[in-house]
Amino acid sequence: MKRTTSSKEIVLGVTGSIAAYKACEISSRLIERGHAVTAVLTESARHLVGAASFEALTGRRVITAMFEPFASPEIEHIAVAQRADLFLIAPATANILAKAARGMADDWLSTTLLATRAPILFAPAMNTNMYNHPATQENIEILKARGCAFVGPGTGNLACGTVGIGRMIDVPAILDAVEAALCETKDLVGLSVVVTAGGTREPLDPVRFLGNHSSGKMGRALALEALKRGARVTVIAGHMDVAPPEGAEVVVAQTANEMAEIALSLAQDADIFVGAAAVGDFRPEDPSEEKLKRSGKGLKLALVENPDVISQVAALKRDGQLVVGFAAETDNLMKNAKAKLKKKQLDLIVANEVNTEDSGFGADTLRARLIDTEGNVEELDLATKEEVAKRLFDRISDLLD
Ligand SMILES: Cc1cc2nc3c(=O)[nH]c(=O)nc-3n(C[C@H](O)[C@H](O)[C@H](O)COP(=O)(O)O)c2cc1C
Repeated sequence: MKRTTSSKEIVLGVTGSIAAYKACEISSRLIERGHAVTAVLTESARHLVGAASFEALTGRRVITAMFEPFASPEIEHIAVAQRADLFLIAPATANILAKAARGMADDWLSTTLLATRAPILFAPAMNTNMYNHPATQENIEILKARGCAFVGPGTGNLACGTVGIGRMIDVPAILDAVEAALCETKDLVGLSVVVTAGGTREPLDPVRFLGNHSSGKMGRALALEALKRGARVTVIAGHMDVAPPEGAEVVVAQTANEMAEIALSLAQDADIFVGAAAVGDFRPEDPSEEKLKRSGKGLKLALVENPDVISQVAALKRDGQLVVGFAAETDNLMKNAKAKLKKKQLDLIVANEVNTEDSGFGADTLRARLIDTEGNVEELDLATKEEVAKRLFDRISDLLD
């Protein structure tokens, strides 16, 4: 993968947890995203996973010991500490958390953690009792108070045969946390952002529904961008094909009525509300309580209109609160989007085409236009949903000033 201007120098500290093998995948994904990775393996980690794998994946010499006879100046610990944009410790043992909290420096990794001024992100992995132990909890609190970031741990089956909290969080969540830690724009710190995402489903009977093709990818990208910029984020999640980002609070809403009720309640405390969900306009008037059967005569459905969630939220807008909507259109894109912006009293609208394969529902990219109340239009020609989210929050940030 070609390095880009957003490429960063990441030091990946791998410590002696059974999850150490997952650090190979983390290296690989970071390299795919264009970052440069220097892997550091503690002595315990080297019993569990081989340095050769990391060397092959990162294309760089792996650091394994403080006193290497032929160590080059580039991997000397002060040099690495100074050029790092981020230290990611994944998996992080109870031991490295204790050493980092107390400032111990008895091997390469713990010494370099003291020498660096780069952000530090820990992905803890350990047995539930070790994690819940007051000593570990205290060490985590100390590190958080010093500004270190944490991702996970998750809950589930542990290598020791028990079920509980302590397993290293999944790799995608670690990658999201890396992007958040690397993001230099922190213009949403202290603000609360609510994002609706995915599609609603309206029951026809106990086993069938009326739905739409929304994947939730746009909502996910928006929630992640807001998290990266330091906001507290809540996702009101309809049906999503992708998981909301780690770090966002998630409230599930199945139908448009549920989404409206939750949105109106959460919007009260939100500074920014972004409605990216595809909320169904109609629902069956009288859903059957039993599974509908064939009658040989077909089926006529009576539909009623659902609440217009974003309009209802915007109608109750407080001073200084921003409400942003999406207009997914198959025709008359600009005309329909501008009309919606005005009628629904939104601050910004993202008009997007949904009638081509590379734009809209399910796609990773979008042909979008950002339109504000003054009629300014910013055109994004086929951009990734992550890029659209970034540009949208740049505009939101301008409106907050
Ligand atoms: C097979 C095996 C798995 C281990 N898994 C973990 C673990 O998941 N988390 C942890 O905190 N310690 C774990 N340990 C214990 C650590 O390896 C031990 O505390 C060690 O001193 C950590 O050193 P380090 O932090 O320098 O890598 C494990 C030990 C063994 C033998």
